[in-house]
Amino acid sequence: MAEFDTIIIGAGPGGYVCAIRAAQLGLKVAVVEGRETLGGTCLNVGCIPSKAMLHATHMLHETHENFEKMGLMGAAPKVDWAKMQAYKDDVVTGNTKGIEFLLKKNKVTWIKGWASIPATGKVKVGDDVHTAKHIVIATGSEASSLPGVTVDEETIVTSTGALTLGRIPKTMVVIGAGVIGLELGSVYARLGTEVTVVEYLDAITPGMDAEVAKTFQRILTKQGLKFILGAAVQSVAKTKKGASVSYKLKKDNSEASLDADIVLVATGRKPYTTGLGLDGLGVEMGPRGTVKTDDHFQTSVKGLYAIGDAIAGPMLAHKAEDEGMALAEIMAGKHGHVNYGVIPGVIYTTPEVANVGLTEEQLKAEGRAYKAGKFPFMGNARAKAVFQAEGFVKILVDATTDRILGAHIIGPQAGDLIHEICVAMEFGASAQDLALTCHAHPTWSEAVREAALACGDGAIHA
Ligand code: NAI
Repeated sequence: MAEFDTIIIGAGPGGYVCAIRAAQLGLKVAVVEGRETLGGTCLNVGCIPSKAMLHATHMLHETHENFEKMGLMGAAPKVDWAKMQAYKDDVVTGNTKGIEFLLKKNKVTWIKGWASIPATGKVKVGDDVHTAKHIVIATGSEASSLPGVTVDEETIVTSTGALTLGRIPKTMVVIGAGVIGLELGSVYARLGTEVTVVEYLDAITPGMDAEVAKTFQRILTKQGLKFILGAAVQSVAKTKKGASVSYKLKKDNSEASLDADIVLVATGRKPYTTGLGLDGLGVEMGPRGTVKTDDHFQTSVKGLYAIGDAIAGPMLAHKAEDEGMALAEIMAGKHGHVNYGVIPGVIYTTPEVANVGLTEEQLKAEGRAYKAGKFPFMGNARAKAVFQAEGFVKILVDATTDRILGAHIIGPQAGDLIHEICVAMEFGASAQDLALTCHAHPTWSEAVREAALACGDGAIHA
């Protein structure tokens, strides 16, 4: 039993970042985490292990696709699946240990176990009840399956099971052409698995700029992924050899099924608040299981806050981190703030896909007068040199003021390039501000400048 200024429940990117910042601002902080390691879904079974697998398989893909073109001859490497898994696990361990070190360095107490909130200002872990002025729910989310689908994490898996398969499957059906489906679908397609993605909507990556989504689907198809769009999955049944996915095509209501060794269910995630005792406290909930919060992340119960995947907004690690930092500032009596208009989204496939701000579809729906400046990577010398000349940068600006309203990139390093535009947007910059900034040659970033130039008098290399 101990007394703290702040107890944070959950040590994912939202929780641990909130804890570090709150401690840096002088608060006495504890984090409760039930997993054996810190870092939450993102570090343990999400963003980080998937990036390791994407990196390893990207390298493999390069040896098949591009090595010979560069005069690098010889047999392509064979995959040692156990070793690849061990590499991924090492990457995870390195990062979770890093968080442990950071918590210690900042004098944040790690209370090990699963927490509940028996009363305002109290957190129960095992038999101990701790007290705190502020309690933060940073419990994240869990995969949400479909009715008629029972996940066993062996044959019918979520992203968690897909990262620890016993062997490389020959065939895989991915349900859902969202971020998880396409990242992990790419991993296995590069390993030689025949991957078919079944998606309910008529386009992949819902909500993404339509032109980017179309280009993305074309490129992934070339990489070997198959797509069945406009298909609602009805059920998944286990078979002797794997599983069978039944779906209904929306255009004519016809039914069909697909057999595969492995079925990956990637149909979204839902907030995870089970066992906290929010009902008993009378915490007001929002839509789809989210915890309702005000502008300061406070729930309907005074002193009880929530951040990250557990509340409204995109389920992204960096959104949770920003909320964690802002809330720490608020708890320390300062003015924390998150600019929800400038939260980038990235898909870490090859090529990467990144976006920030509004899409053309949103601007049209809002009836806003805008201009689009587009530049293809085909005109970028650096991209051509590394066989990544597919894709483009598109910057959307206000037609009158030239202020940047959004940007959409599909191409090499898109996930890093997007941040130049994020910074510009934070400062309320115009496309001309970007266009007048000297960009080193030859860099991928020049494509961003060229797209900014295309918003004005025109790009140079297109
Ligand atoms: P998602 O919401 O991105 O995509 C789910 C897809 O499943 C949608 O396209 C939806 O139309 C489809 N779907 C739903 N029901 C269906 C049915 N019955 N039949 C066929 N298709 C169906 O969800 P996803 O990919 O599972 O990701 C979950 C969350 O994790 C997202 O919020 C995502 O942003 C986040 N995430 C982010 C990553 C990143 O930033 N790189 C990486 C991995 C996850």
